Amino acid sequence: MSVLNRSISLNRDGSFNRRGFSVSIGSPKVTNHVRFGWVSLKIQVLVIIASVISFFVAIGCGYIFVLPSLSHALLNAQGVLSDHNHNEILTSCDVFDGSWVRVPGYPLYNATDCPFVEKGFNCLGNGRVDTDYLSWRWKPKGCNIPRFDVRAVLEMLRSKRVVFVGDSMSRTQWESMICMLMAGVEDKSGVYEVNQNNITKRIRFLGVRFSAFNFTIEFFRSVFLVQQGTLPRYMQRPRRVKSTLMLDKLDDISHQWVNSDVLIFNTGHWWVPSKLFDIGCYFQVKRSLRLGMSIPAAFKTALETWASWVEREIDSNRTRIFFRTFEPSHWRYSYTIVMNP
Ligand SMILES: *[C@@H]1O[C@H](CO)[C@@H](O)[C@H](O)[C@H]1NC(C)=O
Ligand SMILES: *[C@@H]1O[C@H](CO)[C@@H](O)[C@H](O)[C@H]1NC(C)=O
Ligand SMILES: *[C@@H]1O[C@H](CO)[C@@H](O)[C@H](O)[C@H]1NC(C)=O
Ligand SMILES: *[C@@H]1O[C@H](CO)[C@@H](O)[C@H](O)[C@H]1NC(C)=O
Repeated sequence: MSVLNRSISLNRDGSFNRRGFSVSIGSPKVTNHVRFGWVSLKIQVLVIIASVISFFVAIGCGYIFVLPSLSHALLNAQGVLSDHNHNEILTSCDVFDGSWVRVPGYPLYNATDCPFVEKGFNCLGNGRVDTDYLSWRWKPKGCNIPRFDVRAVLEMLRSKRVVFVGDSMSRTQWESMICMLMAGVEDKSGVYEVNQNNITKRIRFLGVRFSAFNFTIEFFRSVFLVQQGTLPRYMQRPRRVKSTLMLDKLDDISHQWVNSDVLIFNTGHWWVPSKLFDIGCYFQVKRSLRLGMSIPAAFKTALETWASWVEREIDSNRTRIFFRTFEPSHWRYSYTIVMNP
């Protein structure tokens, strides 16, 4: 059960210039600052991504472990950690060097009591009998990550807007975060989806409001982050080409992601032939079709588009950005059931 939490936080500091970008791996105040040129940023990001592949539990239900790390990142970002000593230790601690330890007191919520859990992910509710898989916690060698403190996090998020963007990995983390936070809310009826929508795999937007705390936690489905489109009729193309992925354009709903306090992206699992070429989706850059372009090259181009969008559109003084890529999927075995991750 190799479960690692990796997040890359792009964070421009005061000395930011157009060539410099500070990428900190892990929670914002945790060190490991790597400086590199803008041009090579994406390559670096890819390298980092490849070498520090993401996240938590490989087995289906394990995604509930992900949010503690996010909240710790938030805690650090906001300087909410009460214990200064602790903060200092965390700052100098390599949070990625550690191991999983089994501890009591988990999970942090009962999925059956949380209306935002998709049925398929409520493992205990669906009859799973073993519970050992619920009791793991990441322990960096040099420090302890503080335990998720729901009241503190609720207060920290007061009047804030948290936005998840990505595929189902983002959606399930969004669900988990809401459930973890709901455990600390007395009046559960004050927590609701803003459009009274139910969670479905295809829905493009879901927003849950915590009215007592005046914040929302939103999810935008954008599995590639860049825009999917159809080709104009005049364009010559082989018959196998049914649609394109416009690598130079961020998703058309991207304007809705700005003005957030925390913005968490993920993409990865859809960059595979079965979700692209096999269904007639090919790459496009500007007005030209790139039939020979490999998926890794396209992924890199899309990340460049994403990174320049971040640089252009996001007020880095306000918004804390996280980017995640491949991580263990929801399923432990592959089934022949057709799913939309
Ligand atoms: C979760 O909640 C349900 C319904 O409230 C309850 O039946 C079940 O025992 C709880 N599970 C755990 C592990 O506490
Ligand atoms: C609620 O949050 C918004 C920002 O999201 C803020 O402008 C507004 O003043 C807050 N309202 C209250 C009552 O705190
Ligand atoms: C959501 O699901 C509930 C229960 O299945 C159903 O009664 C309700 O109409 C659904 N809401 C929407 C907006 O589809
Ligand atoms: C961010 O804050 C710094 C220091 O207050 C300021 O100099 C800079 O212009 C701000 N950047 C943006 C994009 O608002």
